[in-house]
Amino acid sequence: MSAVFKPDNLKEVSTAASQEAYFEPMTHAHLEAVAQLEQSAYRFPWTQGNFSDSLKCGYHMQMLMAGQAVPGLTGGIQSSPVLIGYFVAMKGVDETHLLNITVAPAYQRQGWGHLLLDALALWSRGEGAQWLWLEVRPSNAHAKAVYLRYGFREVGLRKGYYPDGGSGLLGAARREDAVVMSLALNAIGAAQPVTGGASADRAFAGSAFAGSASVDSASTRGKLP
Ligand SMILES: CC(C)(COP(=O)(O)OP(=O)(O)OC[C@H]1O[C@@H](n2cnc3c(N)ncnc32)[C@H](O)[C@@H]1OP(=O)(O)O)[C@@H](O)C(=O)NCCC(=O)NCCS
Repeated sequence: MSAVFKPDNLKEVSTAASQEAYFEPMTHAHLEAVAQLEQSAYRFPWTQGNFSDSLKCGYHMQMLMAGQAVPGLTGGIQSSPVLIGYFVAMKGVDETHLLNITVAPAYQRQGWGHLLLDALALWSRGEGAQWLWLEVRPSNAHAKAVYLRYGFREVGLRKGYYPDGGSGLLGAARREDAVVMSLALNAIGAAQPVTGGASADRAFAGSAFAGSASVDSASTRGKLP
């Protein structure tokens, strides 16, 4: 999938004269950069091997890139792409399970997460999916809020799903539960319009999904099949 967006708030995170954002399929050639971003965004990040295994499994893996326009050595403008974020999704029978969604820390809270969800929802609908599913840590308040605002609903809890990093009684490794969330892709009016910097992206989403919504999160930290 490929689309071009020009959010008007990117000047806050870059001194570049202009940027254009677009989607690009993740390949093995990108994994080092992806794993670096992953490390910067999570306490319990996926390993490069997790991403490599996901590629081998044929999961849908898209990167959101920004082409930073910078002055060239001989004058003019050169473009140097920057990785803004990515998602990894697994297709089921009539559903898509979001396994990982990540926005680089410097680009968070500017609408890019919503755009990744839009891209996922668009692809999922094209694949005939009716639902989006994801798991998220209860402690990840920001991600949970993003999903709720997008239209996801809490539908369950998986006990002890995530590593916690601490130890409990007798030194046993503590675990954190996962909140399970889902979104009906054909739900009328489920998507909540977002105004602000990435407004072009939201306009795209609204027309693409015509009142539907969706997506899911990157929550199987260390839980790849
Ligand atoms: C969770 C995550 C993917 C969300 O992505 P994001 O880019 O931060 O989310 P968005 O910017 O789309 O939306 C979040 C906020 O930006 C605001 N926003 C949305 N569009 C905007 C825009 N165009 N301009 C400015 N702000 C905007 C939203 O209103 C929302 O505000 P709030 O936090 O006050 O509720 C990202 O924060 C992330 O990668 N976190 C670390 C990894 C992680 O936890 N992943 C999920 C695991 S389940």
